[in-house]
Amino acid sequence: GSGGERELCAPICCILGHVDAGKTKLLDCVRGTNVQKGEAGGITQQIGATYLPVENIRERAGLKPEVAIKVPGLLVIDTPGHESFSKMRSRGLSLCDIAVVVVDITRGLEKQTIESLHLLKRHDVRFIVALTKVDRLYGWKSCPNAPIVKALKSQSDDVQSEYKWRLTEVVTQFKENGFNTAPYYENKKMKQVFNIVPTSAIRGEGVPDLLLLLVRWVPEIMIEKLVYDNSVECTILEVNGDKDLGTTIDVVLINGALHQGDQAIVCTKQGPVTTIIRDLLTPHPMKELKAKGVYKHHKELRAVHGVKIVAPGLQHAMAGTSLIVVKPGDDLRQAEAAAMQQ
Ligand code: GTP
Ligand code: MG
Ligand code: NA
Repeated sequence: GSGGERELCAPICCILGHVDAGKTKLLDCVRGTNVQKGEAGGITQQIGATYLPVENIRERAGLKPEVAIKVPGLLVIDTPGHESFSKMRSRGLSLCDIAVVVVDITRGLEKQTIESLHLLKRHDVRFIVALTKVDRLYGWKSCPNAPIVKALKSQSDDVQSEYKWRLTEVVTQFKENGFNTAPYYENKKMKQVFNIVPTSAIRGEGVPDLLLLLVRWVPEIMIEKLVYDNSVECTILEVNGDKDLGTTIDVVLINGALHQGDQAIVCTKQGPVTTIIRDLLTPHPMKELKAKGVYKHHKELRAVHGVKIVAPGLQHAMAGTSLIVVKPGDDLRQAEAAAMQQ
């Protein structure tokens, strides 16, 4: 392997797809959470981030101890599929290493699926297709958390034939949009042909397969990109008011480390704001950053993580911009100018 002794970061994976395709539910299935049920109208309206440590992924995917995984985990960015949130989709996409495009097997490619595909092409981001809701195939026999090939083998001939024609239809739709796709278990050219993983968020069929592709195949194709680098790269996802903490920002720490006491700059419409990081908070592993809950406090955090930053003066910080950390010896005026140039 070319990973050598170098420290690798968790890949950042962005979930995209049409409204109600099943993005949040699939993530709920992986996390063992119920975020989707609590959303107003069942619609995601904010971008989210969840850190999945490798131990949890191993357990969730039923991996044997001898199966090596090079990355420490996976950071998953959930995005809204509703057409009015295209800004959040491009924000999620612009900071990810890999995308999962969620397609409802009973509906095929829809408007925002296609919009996402164009964005992915423009940003040259690779993706995996989660062809989800397979449990909706008429007569589907549930096989909780089974690898998909095993689950498919236990289905009746009718279910298998419905699966095949629906799959063929989706592959054709991708082709019409300029993408070659194939079910991953038959894909012999993973470098050129995009993988499709059939899944169900209800009983978890195919979920082990999807996780395995994300933590094994993704590092294989982009190991250089995942090498830890100590220059801070940190993007603001959301600016939030909290009655106890004041204004906080949810960020994705893509590279480098953050510390309590670091001097940092955010850009606002009124100009640069220089502040001192008071606290670094993360939700517990497998929990959504944006969900209210119990946080862990950190003196230092190394990439990759979804982090809630507590600091004075963040009220006018702008989502989608970078937080700049001022290192000892850096010229403050220059750093402020750099912050405003984005
Ligand atoms: P937005 O974030 O609003 O774009 O939607 P989403 O893509 O996150 O979809 P969501 O997770 O909200 O799921 C939409 C609906 O589909 C909900 O009613 C889910 O319960 C249902 N659903 C999602 N996944 C599955 C699945 O695998 N099987 C079945 N039967 N229903 C599913
Ligand atoms: Mg959602
Ligand atoms: Na929804």
